[in-house]
Amino acid sequence: MKKIILSLAVLSVLIGCKNENSSMHVVNNDNQDVELKIDSLIKLMTIEEKVGQMNQYNGFWDATGPSPKNGTAAKKYEHLRKGWVGSMLNVRGVEQVRSVQKIAVEESRLGIPLIIGFDVIHGYKTLSPIPLAESASWDLKTIQESARVAALEASAVGINWTFAPMVDISRDARWGRVMEGAGEDPYLGSLIAKARIKGFQGDDLSDVGTIAATAKHFAGYGFAEAGREYNSVDIGTSTLHNIVLPPFKAAAEADVKTFMNSFNEINGVPVTGSSYLQRNILKDKWNFNGFVISDWASIREMISWGHAKDKKQAAEIAVIAGSDMDMEGYVYIEELAQLVKDGVIEEDLLDDAVRRILRVKFELGLFDDPYRYCDEVREKEIVGNPKHHEAVLDMAKKSIVLLKNEKNLLPLKKEGQKIALIGALAADKNSPLGSWRLASDDNTAVSVLEGMQSYKGNSLVYKKGADVSIGKTAFIEEVKINTTDKSEFQEAITAAKNADVVVMVLGEHGFQSGEARSRTNLQLPGVQQDLLEAVYKVNQNIVLVLNNGRPLAITWADEHIPAIVEAWQLGTQTGNAVAQVLYGDYNPSGKLPMTFPRNVGQVPIYYNYKNTGRPINKEGNVFWSHYIDTENTPLYPFGYGLSYTTFEYSNLKLNGSKFNVGEDIKVSVEVKNTGNRDGKEVVQLYIRDLVGSITRPVKELKGFELLEIKVGESKTVTFTLNSATLGFYNNQEKFITEPGDFKVFVGGSSIKTLEANFELE
Ligand code: NOJ
Repeated sequence: MKKIILSLAVLSVLIGCKNENSSMHVVNNDNQDVELKIDSLIKLMTIEEKVGQMNQYNGFWDATGPSPKNGTAAKKYEHLRKGWVGSMLNVRGVEQVRSVQKIAVEESRLGIPLIIGFDVIHGYKTLSPIPLAESASWDLKTIQESARVAALEASAVGINWTFAPMVDISRDARWGRVMEGAGEDPYLGSLIAKARIKGFQGDDLSDVGTIAATAKHFAGYGFAEAGREYNSVDIGTSTLHNIVLPPFKAAAEADVKTFMNSFNEINGVPVTGSSYLQRNILKDKWNFNGFVISDWASIREMISWGHAKDKKQAAEIAVIAGSDMDMEGYVYIEELAQLVKDGVIEEDLLDDAVRRILRVKFELGLFDDPYRYCDEVREKEIVGNPKHHEAVLDMAKKSIVLLKNEKNLLPLKKEGQKIALIGALAADKNSPLGSWRLASDDNTAVSVLEGMQSYKGNSLVYKKGADVSIGKTAFIEEVKINTTDKSEFQEAITAAKNADVVVMVLGEHGFQSGEARSRTNLQLPGVQQDLLEAVYKVNQNIVLVLNNGRPLAITWADEHIPAIVEAWQLGTQTGNAVAQVLYGDYNPSGKLPMTFPRNVGQVPIYYNYKNTGRPINKEGNVFWSHYIDTENTPLYPFGYGLSYTTFEYSNLKLNGSKFNVGEDIKVSVEVKNTGNRDGKEVVQLYIRDLVGSITRPVKELKGFELLEIKVGESKTVTFTLNSATLGFYNNQEKFITEPGDFKVFVGGSSIKTLEANFELE
C-alpha cells in the first residue's frame, strides 16, 4: 500500500507541471486531466517499463494457445515485480486477481495497476446463449442486458476487461467461430456489436459493475479460406469495406475501449502487421483512442506466416503497424527495448501505445483504486445471482427459432400425452453451455429433460438412443464423435413406438464449434442421422430440437420431420427455455442470423449475394449460374423463422417515388397478427440498388423492428432510408450514394417480402 501512495503522490506532483508536449498527441478524450496524468507518468517510465505496459501474460496455465515453456511462473512473477507486465489474462477470482495486482502495484517501481482480461463471451458463471443464438433474437435490448449481466459477474471476480464482442462477419458455417459472432450481415452485426459494447461498458466505465470491451478480430478472420481456422484470407476492397469493416466501425463509434487483431493475413499481410488496418483505418480514419491487443501470440506467428524472419523483426513490424499490446507472445518483452536502444524504433511509438493503455486503465478507475474490482462480498453476492438466471432464461427463449411446424405438433399439448424424449443431448447438462465458457462449472445447464420434467401433465419417457461423443471433452481437446455405437437405438425405437409425440434433441457437442473447430461436414454428427431415420420409421410425429453452434445442413430432416426447433446452445437455462417454447408458454420469435445451406457444397452461402451475369435459366440450356446437383437456394434463408401465430404484411407505402440524394425516404408497412396467439415479429427491410459502379447485392438489410402484436391486431411500422443507408464504399474506399433505381422489400424474412420501387435523383 505504501508503494501506491508513493507513486500516486509522484503522479499528482507531476500533474501540477503542465507538459508542453502533451498537445502533440491526438486526444479525443475530454478529460484533459487524465491526459496530463498520462503524460506525466510516461515521463517517469524507463523504456523497459514502457515495454512492460505493452506486455500481457497469461495466468499460470495454458488456455487457448501454446505458450513458450520459458514463460514459467517464476519469470512472470519477476516481471510483475519489475513493472514489466501491463496486463494479465486468465487470472480470475478476487483472491487471484488481488495477488497479482498487489505485486504490480505494491512491489514495482511505479506501481502501475494491471488491467485484467478474460474471455467473457456469453457470460461468466451464469451463461447466456452462445452469441450466434442471441443474435437470432434480433432483440438489441435483451442482448445488451445479457452483456450487462456478464459484465456484472466478471467485474465481481476481479476482471475488468473482456475479449468480446467478436464482431467478425462470416458466411461460412464450416468455420467453428461463427458461434461467437452475430452471423452474416453487416447491418445486423453492427447493431448487435453496439448493443453488446453498451452492455459491457455501460454509460460509465469507472462504475465497478462495468468492464472494458474488445472488438475482435480486426479484421477479416471470418473469411478464412475454406472455413479452416487460422487460414489465409483473400478478399477484395469492396468486401472488406462493405461487409467486414462496418461492425468494427460501429464498435469504434460505440467507444469500445480495445480492439483485438486477428490470426489471419489479408491479401498477403498478417493483420497483426498491417499498418493499413490498424493505423490508417482504425487509429487515423476512425479516430480510435483505445488500444489494440494482439491475438494470442499473433505477433510471433508472423514468423510462421513468413512475414518476419525472427522475433526481432516481428516486434518491429507489429509495433510500427500499431499493435499496442502483445498477448502471451514474449516478443515485445524480449525484443522491443533493444530495438528502441538500437534506434530501429522510435520511442514515440512506445509512448503512443503506452498512452493508449494507460488511458483505459485510468478510465476504469484503476489508478484511483487498483483493488476496486476485488471485493469478496460483491463476488459472493453477484456471481450466479438468481436475477442473472432470470435474465439468461429470457435471452434463451428469445434466441430460439422455429424452423418448421406442420401437423400442429407444436406447441405440445400439456396433458394426456405420451411423450418420448430421445437423444443424448436431451439429458446433457454440459454441452448446452456451448463453447467459450472458461469460468462456468461443468454440468450446470438445465437439461431439456429437466425442463420438460417440470411439466407434469404428460407421461415422459427418456431414452438416449446414442451418444454424440465419446468420453469427456475439455475445452482444449478435440471432441471424439461416436460414429459406430448404435447399441441403444432399439430402446429409443421402442419408446418412440409407444409415444404420441417424439421429441428428439440432436446436434453438435458444445465443443464442436468455437475456436479451432472447423468442420467439412455440416450434417448431424456421428450416428444421429441414422437414429433420426430409425425413429422416424416407427413414429413420424417427431419434434426435432437442434443443438448446434453453426448452421447445419439438415435437408433430410426438413423433408421428413414435421416440426423443427433451432435451439442452438442456450447456456445455463437451456432446458427451461426449450420446454417453455415446446409447451407454448413462450411463442418463438427468433429469426436466423445466418443462412442454412442444403449441403456443405453451397458454402459460402449468404442472402446478400451478387446477381451474376447469368442469374436465371433464360434459354432453357445449361449455361447459367447454378449447380447441376442441387438448388441455388438455401434450406433456410437469413431472417427466417416461424411463430405459433401468423403475420400478414400489407400496404407497403413510400412517401414518394423520386427522391434527391440526401433526402429521407419513409417506408411504411402494415403487419397483422392473423393467427390465434399473441406474438412477436421481426419486420425486416431490405433494399436493392439496381445499378452501381460497384455491383450491388440482390438484397441488403437496412432496417428492422421487433413488434409485439396481439391476436387480430395490426401495427404500422415506418422505416427511414437515407444516403447513409443507400450508399456503399467504392473501390477507392470512398462512401458514395449513387443516383438511380432502387427496390425496397419488407417482410418477415429475406425472401418472403412485399416490394416497391423508387428512384434517387
Ligand atoms: C485466442 C482467440 O482467438 C481470442 O479470441 C481470445 O480472446 C484469445 N485467444 C484469448 O483467450
